[in-house]
Amino acid sequence: MCGIVGYVGARPALGIIVEGLRRLEYRGYDSAGVAVLGKDSGASPDEGLDLITVKRAGKLGNLEQELAAQAPESAINTGTTGIGHTRWATHGSPTDRNAHPHRSRNGRLAIIHNGIIENFAALRAELEAAGVEFVSETDTECAAHLLEQELANVRAELAAGTAPAALADSRAEQLAEAMRRMCRRLEGAFTLLAVDADTPDAVVGARRNSPLVVGRSEGENFLASDVSAFIAHTREAIELGQDQVVLITPHAVHITTFDGTPTEGKQFHIDWDAAAAEKGGFDYFMLKEIAEQPRAVADTLRGRLSPTGELMMDETRLTEAELRSVDKVFIVACGTAYHAGLVAKYAIEHWTRLPCEVELASEFRYRDPVLDSSTLVVAISQSGETMDTLMALRHARAQKARVLAICNTHGSSIPRESDAVLYTHAGPEIAVASTKAFLTQLVACYLVGLYLAQARGVKFADEVRAVLDQLQQMPGAVDQVLETMDAVRALARDLASSRSVLFIGRHVGYPVALEGALKLKELAYMHAEGFAAGELKHGPIALIEQGTPVVCIVPSPVGKDSLHDKVVSNIQEVRARGARTIVIAEVGDTSVRPYADHLIEVPATPTLLAPLVTTVPLQVLACEIATARGHDVDQPRNLAKSVTVE
Ligand code: AGP
Repeated sequence: MCGIVGYVGARPALGIIVEGLRRLEYRGYDSAGVAVLGKDSGASPDEGLDLITVKRAGKLGNLEQELAAQAPESAINTGTTGIGHTRWATHGSPTDRNAHPHRSRNGRLAIIHNGIIENFAALRAELEAAGVEFVSETDTECAAHLLEQELANVRAELAAGTAPAALADSRAEQLAEAMRRMCRRLEGAFTLLAVDADTPDAVVGARRNSPLVVGRSEGENFLASDVSAFIAHTREAIELGQDQVVLITPHAVHITTFDGTPTEGKQFHIDWDAAAAEKGGFDYFMLKEIAEQPRAVADTLRGRLSPTGELMMDETRLTEAELRSVDKVFIVACGTAYHAGLVAKYAIEHWTRLPCEVELASEFRYRDPVLDSSTLVVAISQSGETMDTLMALRHARAQKARVLAICNTHGSSIPRESDAVLYTHAGPEIAVASTKAFLTQLVACYLVGLYLAQARGVKFADEVRAVLDQLQQMPGAVDQVLETMDAVRALARDLASSRSVLFIGRHVGYPVALEGALKLKELAYMHAEGFAAGELKHGPIALIEQGTPVVCIVPSPVGKDSLHDKVVSNIQEVRARGARTIVIAEVGDTSVRPYADHLIEVPATPTLLAPLVTTVPLQVLACEIATARGHDVDQPRNLAKSVTVE
């Protein structure tokens, strides 16, 4: 939540920052703001720099309108150092006043923040007692005032000769030292970036429990919540570790821990380009990301077999013996990733014969789950920064469990803190509603199931290979589904005025029903619920009125016979009570036709892999209904892509 970007170099900073914010807007869009260090063209060479901040409530477009009114030669348009922020509100409503950047009392420092400073009430009381007047309701403003105090302390110590001599020659290092001192006083989760009008050509950043990456280039450097903010300028990046402070100048990147020990971040090369983060001719990122699913599924499968025919993770710090000793699997995740976990349970238990429990990450540690060194915890997260999942992972590790991350974001916190990682190679997912990330999480979950089965010796290599061959057919199957979506789009327009839509499924169709309902809720703001089809008769069937749309996910008739027939009976039950049935079934499944008011056919797939195709029409349905209702499907209200608070 909240996107942040910083730039220092030789080019005007403003355009680079605003462009970065546009790419980070998926992280929050309650307000946006920038701070630039610059000098008006008429200023004399002896005059120092000014700090110019502009911020506006609402989406980035509001800020851009305001910026467009600034004269081209003005300091904000010519300054070459700056920071920018796009906000998902936590402390304080989304107003101009609460928008970031926040200035310190003397007006010379500006700071932006992602996260929550948990001890802000105590800090604010302390600052107010010292005479500081707050102008916003945010926790961030504390940091602005504290940083000013710490910087003044550093400079006073230098004047008195009591500060380390190494700081004397560099105002930028003094600013970094002030940031370190301040961070040691903060509790909670924060990424902070600051600029100081008296420290030209420097941006200082810090991170704890919140993401921050550095982009490195010739004569200029960048800081951002994720690489998409600077991918148009450089593909060389450094991931920052926990509790680290970074100072960027045009020609250098200095990283230290909060206590001042120099350290190096992990360098990496970004293997996708700027075009991957653009809409590419689609009206919405979500439409583009739905269309990208065949390729994303193929990319996640790519290169998974070693030359000797064994499945491979991206990173594993687990030994074969540790994997063999696993006697229980827990999956922790949130939202759509949780639904992927629910599907994974069926595959993992079926293939490995290990018990597998799936938990909402936000609930996991509160119920004191039984974990030990023979428990494998699988943490699934697209962003790799979801705080609920990160805290569940940490709880698991504290209990000595092994953690394997399934993640789409290189260098993010969740994979970094895990014992093993399997990356989903979905490419950047910008739309708030998860689509290609879900399909690739499913693929990754299947691979984890097969990997465990292989390591534990419960499946022969040729059996693993057979499932992999089936998985290799799935990009083509997803492609076929996408080609037949016109009818779904027409149906969506017809359903746009419905009051409520229900979704039912059994076995792996049940999590698909949950996912279909989640998509509709978050995008169309409609009442939607997913149910296990067999559970309907225990209460929810009372919801059905004449014409209530019920989406029914039907398993393959060539899979488990009883499963298929039971779902067909459930369709008849809801139809008998007046439901308008929208049936998603395998092509050629004639048995459902008499009970389907609308039939959506998907290619035949093995039972366990069916969610890879049955989910796609539900994504299209939700996207189209939301569009028909006039909503921005990329940025639904009240939400953010990356949820870095608990
Ligand atoms: C679904 O469309 C949402 N974007 C949301 O439920 C999401 O899946 C959840 O917040 C988890 O995010 P993560 O995968 O980044 O951890």
